Amino acid sequence: MSPGSRMKYEIVVVGALETNCYLVYCEECRACAIVDPGAEPGKIVRAVAEFELKPALILNTHGHVDHIGANRDMKDKYGVPLYLHAADAALLEDPGHLAINLLLGAQDSPPPDRLLVDGDEITVGRSSLRVIHTPGHTPGSVGFLGEGVYFSGDTLFRDGVGRTDLPGGSWRDLERSIRERILILPGETVVLPGHGPRTTVEQENLSNPFFT
Ligand SMILES: [Fe+2]
Repeated sequence: MSPGSRMKYEIVVVGALETNCYLVYCEECRACAIVDPGAEPGKIVRAVAEFELKPALILNTHGHVDHIGANRDMKDKYGVPLYLHAADAALLEDPGHLAINLLLGAQDSPPPDRLLVDGDEITVGRSSLRVIHTPGHTPGSVGFLGEGVYFSGDTLFRDGVGRTDLPGGSWRDLERSIRERILILPGETVVLPGHGPRTTVEQENLSNPFFT
């Protein structure tokens, strides 16, 4: 996080697939975006209370079940709107997904209240996140660019990239998204993926085996 930045974040690792749910918040007013509440709603609620945050919205980087499984609980608990890219909205109602939900004990997601568009600026207290559309892992995958940080969802990981073998996935799109939309960000930008450890744009430019 850049010095003087108002934007902070906490990580809550949730569910069997160890999804990184991020609580992205404004340090001044504690307004908070809940990014990818994938599972374990109780754990997320406890973290919100522990850090004295005030949830203002729910953001999904994409519509896969391990990123949306606690959308309904968060919405019920905090009464805040859910934002997701239009191209992944259908995933929330996909019968295959609903079956997996049953299996994982996840709740079906409510429909999004707002459909995200590339370039949208999402206000979080006195800071903001810019929506960057990065199709490939899913058609509606997005990242959120804050002050010196980029929440990459399942598009880019440390030393890895998102899978493209699930319905709607496209390796061509994924490669283009990463090259043209993420790896061009300032090198010091901290990349915070949907699973696993953080990295930086510079680090991935140097050592990501898919791009070196
Ligand atoms: Fe995913």
